[in-house]
Amino acid sequence: MLKDAPARYRTIQVIPTPEGFGAEITGVDLSRALEADVLAEVKAAWARHSVVAFPGQPLSLEALEAFTQQIGRFGVDPFIAPMAGHPNVLELRREPDEKATNFGAGWHSDWSFQPVPPAATLLRSQVIPPVGGDTLFADTASAYEALSPAFQAMISKLRAVHSASRAYGTKGVFARETEARTMQIIVSEEADKTHAHPLIRTHPVTGRKAIFASPVYTVGIEGMTAEEGAAILGYLFKHMTAETFVYRHKWQKDMLLMWDNRCTVHLAEGGYDGHLRVLHRTTVAGEIPV
Ligand code: SIN
Repeated sequence: MLKDAPARYRTIQVIPTPEGFGAEITGVDLSRALEADVLAEVKAAWARHSVVAFPGQPLSLEALEAFTQQIGRFGVDPFIAPMAGHPNVLELRREPDEKATNFGAGWHSDWSFQPVPPAATLLRSQVIPPVGGDTLFADTASAYEALSPAFQAMISKLRAVHSASRAYGTKGVFARETEARTMQIIVSEEADKTHAHPLIRTHPVTGRKAIFASPVYTVGIEGMTAEEGAAILGYLFKHMTAETFVYRHKWQKDMLLMWDNRCTVHLAEGGYDGHLRVLHRTTVAGEIPV
């Protein structure tokens, strides 16, 4: 297994968390086009650790866009108005006096309801509050591997139904919101559509299997009653977000974070009312989950 072999890097420094889920990468300047060998090592470290943080990268929006395109093609970001002049960049902004719940507050894998969900999300910090505002990640590959072989076999053939309806749908959280929000959310009937993916997907680079479901976007299991689906999904959500599988990311200003939506879920913590928080986000297109 890729995760167990010792890793050596020639062009970058990689400091993994003790568990190996999440790592910090230094010794690279993301504001310039990376040499092929450096880019290959960055991608290898990302595949190995799933969530990689690059501290000390004061990237312009153009540099963020350019680095994103070195990782892959832009993904499609629905239901949120992009930044003016930057159709592939979302500004995640919450003002000090904002009362609406912070964006991304429930466990999810970005846009998993799309037929071809994004492989990567990149998030660059501009203003970080002095308290709160961490981003938590759960390792859904390790969570899958920790299940018993009998349970793995039982769930491996299932297909999970994903939808944006609970968040962006006509009866979703944002449609019912009464507090003002800085980010422009686009509530739409389009969000009420559903799309099924394998409940357990195989990572195209590492070959590891991972649970591909989340409480925000997974609404059932194909062919099962709502109660049956909720029982299996409820167990999986509790299991995969247990502390042992979670990496807590603490932000610094000018940090770029890149995560793999194919084998992780994440949530944004609040706890910074009274303070401004501003980050810029892009996604990289993925593949049809198998
Ligand atoms: C998200 O992309 O879901 C939000 C992450 C964050 O604001 O920390």
